[in-house]
Amino acid sequence: MIRLQRVTKRFDGGTEALNNVSLRVDVGALAFLTGPSGAGKSTLLRLIARLERPTRGRIMVNGKDLDTLPRREVPQFRRSIGLVFQDHRLLLDRRVHANVALPLEILGYRRTEARKRVRAALDKVGLLQKENAWPQTLSAGEQQRVGIARAIVHRPALLLADEPTGNLDPKLSREIMELFLDFNRVGVTALIASHNLELITEFGRPMLHLENGNLEARHVKPGHSAG
Ligand SMILES: Nc1ncnc2c1ncn2[C@@H]1O[C@H](COP(=O)(O)OP(=O)(O)OP(=O)(O)O)[C@@H](O)[C@H]1O
Ligand SMILES: [Mg+2]
Repeated sequence: MIRLQRVTKRFDGGTEALNNVSLRVDVGALAFLTGPSGAGKSTLLRLIARLERPTRGRIMVNGKDLDTLPRREVPQFRRSIGLVFQDHRLLLDRRVHANVALPLEILGYRRTEARKRVRAALDKVGLLQKENAWPQTLSAGEQQRVGIARAIVHRPALLLADEPTGNLDPKLSREIMELFLDFNRVGVTALIASHNLELITEFGRPMLHLENGNLEARHVKPGHSAG
């Protein structure tokens, strides 16, 4: 599903966020991305979503080489990915349901179909009763869950989550991680960046550890193995 071959990302100004990173995450796998602040976790996820371009190296996602992906195929590529941002980025001038509907609007879904999917996504994260609320009236955990509903509303095959439990209490953090495991059980491939080692160790899933932009070559297969 995801394959990076010797990927380097250097930002203007010279910061090398990733240095020669190779990894492979197979279809149906779930892996955690760990490492200290500044290690390059967000950069790696953004490269996989094609929100950033690498300085060097090759990135394949869902069978597509992101470097040569034709512009007309970008919308279809984006449709295959769900992104949970480090800061949830809800739009404060839109109610919960309208925030979750955003990806569907961009993808041109019809209103009735969109409405059905939005309700299904909110139901999945346990927030159907808040569909008409304004984001700023929600707790941090609820806002985070709205962000997750928005990421899965178009039923992506690949879910990329950046610190989805940041700032949440232990109970809520566990609930959110379990939500990702549920998605994975029904076939969604997932890569989840997290600082919360104590929590993610419990799940016994493979961890890709970034340190200073470096990662050993790894191959994550479905099931629980890493190598
Ligand atoms: N747009 C940018 N321009 C310049 N430097 C950047 C940019 N984005 C990230 N960096 C730098 O790249 C490095 C990796 O950043 P990144 O955000 O990927 O780390 P991270 O592992 O996600 O950290 P955190 O755990 O704090 O979220 C850092 O040194 C950061 O300052
Ligand atoms: Mg980050």
